[in-house]
Amino acid sequence: MNDSINRRQFFVGATTLTAGAALGGCAEPGSDAFVNPPGVPLGPFGPKSTAEEVTEGVDLSGKTALITGANSGLGYETMRVLAMRGAHVIGTGRTPEKAETACASIGGGRATPAVLELSDLGSVASCASEVQAMDTPIDMLILNAGIMALPELEQVNGIERQFFVNHLGHFAFTLELLDRVKAAPAGRIVVLSSSGHAWAPDGGIQFDNLSGERDYEPMKAYGQSKLANGLFAFELARRLEGTTATANAVHPGIINTNLGRHFPKWQLAFAKLFGWTFMKNVPEGAATSCYVAANPLVKDMSGFYFADCNPVGPDPRMEDAALAAQLWEVSEEITGVRAA
Ligand SMILES: NC(=O)c1ccc[n+]([C@@H]2O[C@H](COP(=O)([O-])OP(=O)(O)OC[C@H]3O[C@@H](n4cnc5c(N)ncnc54)[C@H](OP(=O)(O)O)[C@@H]3O)[C@@H](O)[C@H]2O)c1
Repeated sequence: MNDSINRRQFFVGATTLTAGAALGGCAEPGSDAFVNPPGVPLGPFGPKSTAEEVTEGVDLSGKTALITGANSGLGYETMRVLAMRGAHVIGTGRTPEKAETACASIGGGRATPAVLELSDLGSVASCASEVQAMDTPIDMLILNAGIMALPELEQVNGIERQFFVNHLGHFAFTLELLDRVKAAPAGRIVVLSSSGHAWAPDGGIQFDNLSGERDYEPMKAYGQSKLANGLFAFELARRLEGTTATANAVHPGIINTNLGRHFPKWQLAFAKLFGWTFMKNVPEGAATSCYVAANPLVKDMSGFYFADCNPVGPDPRMEDAALAAQLWEVSEEITGVRAA
């Protein structure tokens, strides 16, 4: 079974690459990283598994999950399924209306709305204090919110927006809630990265161009932010060694969600018509996040990059310890939020 999943993973990677090229960059690139790291066995789930399947029989009652970007796409499905398994879920949206509507519509379980705008460090701090005031350990912190491929350069506090929203906002939010994750018996942090990290520029993170002003390219900037997500999870896992908490990064697959909102109309129409041939649906797309956040099989795994519900790699750039350490330091400097 393991071998067949492995071959299928290669096939999915190759197909995705071809389809991605056909879409002119609409899809995430495939990657030969869809191989499990040496010595790390494959689990029972694969690319077609759904969020409900990977959490079947898992009792999350008494546990708390916090999911950013819970009003749309993968975040919404993740929230719905974790709540269905008994967790109290805190679901963030950028406005009270978005968060409330999403939490009210999950159809079972307990979901508490919270407002989080990741491009605003004030909002990050106030959302974190709101959660702190709930005085509950966080068993699952799922850093899911994201934006992709802004057509023109946009900046937040002088920093390219995708890097700020996808990485820096989550970096600050996590540090402000880290004591709550450590207070859980086995807190898990799941960072939504992407195989699109491969689009990051040479050298990985351009620390001398975080403004994005030099040669801005939408996909390259997205790739850099997703590489930052992976490196953040990697460094966080190192810093959590010796605690009961873990941190891992996830590539969810290629799924037709609102993430592609900035793509040209013809690409969106193409994805709508033919996406089913090479993309995952949303329940499949949320499976890896839910698996890594909740399944007992991976409770002790930390510092890994998962795709299709399995650890993949080795991936030298996602595991570049020096780059990850430098990113951490620079992120502390920019956000002014430091590890306790
Ligand atoms: N879909 C894919 O193929 C794919 C592939 C690889 C990785 N991923 C990653 O998976 C994650 C989820 O993406 P998705 O496909 O579910 O996309 P989505 O449907 O567009 O959902 C993204 C979520 O992030 C929120 N968000 C955007 N900007 C934000 C900000 N400034 N502050 C706070 N929240 C913000 C959105 O809120 P609004 O609705 O208010 O905009 C939405 O709730 C992302 O991190 C993405 O990079 C997705």
